[in-house]
Amino acid sequence: MKNLQLFAAAAVAALAFGVTAVVAQQDPIKERMALMKGNNDNAKIVVAMMRGQAPFDAAKVDAAFAQWAETAQKLPSLFPDNSKTGEKTRAAPKIWETKADFDAKAAAFGKAVAENRDKAKASLDGLKAAMAPVGKACTNCHEDYRLSER
Ligand code: HEC
Repeated sequence: MKNLQLFAAAAVAALAFGVTAVVAQQDPIKERMALMKGNNDNAKIVVAMMRGQAPFDAAKVDAAFAQWAETAQKLPSLFPDNSKTGEKTRAAPKIWETKADFDAKAAAFGKAVAENRDKAKASLDGLKAAMAPVGKACTNCHEDYRLSER
């Protein structure tokens, strides 16, 4: 009897886990939009520091770079074939035509983030210098792969 209960509990746990995994995979559009919104919120925080509208805060800079690194790592897996339309996505169809180039741009973004993180959190001047290549990597990808607002 005890064994049966254990088995039942394990089965329920496995089922719950399976369902979560499916939901995560079914909603890549929401997930990538949420990541991009985080990207933008963090960009606003560091830009305010660069403009002298907020004090330089190394911890917030580091958190921004951490979130961007996470985005760069997850992005290539968030464009499965069934996510070309829906949720008012601004993902350009070109992503699925030249996916290797898209993935390369995500990797280039990740590289710019990794290479400039230490510099950015060291000082305000460092942050200003670091944001040039990082911001460029955002734009580089959007130019080709993000549709204009609709
Ligand atoms: C490798 C490509 C790539 C990189 C790098 C990238 N983005 Fe994006 N971004 C996209 C795509 C594709 C979309 C559209 C996603 C969708 O609507 O499904 C997007 C959407 C957005 C949006 C609109 C979100 C919305 O809800 O409509 C913002 C804001 C944004 N990105 C900010 C940034 C910032 C800031 C950076 C850099 C720190 C960045 N992105 C880096 C590809 C990229």
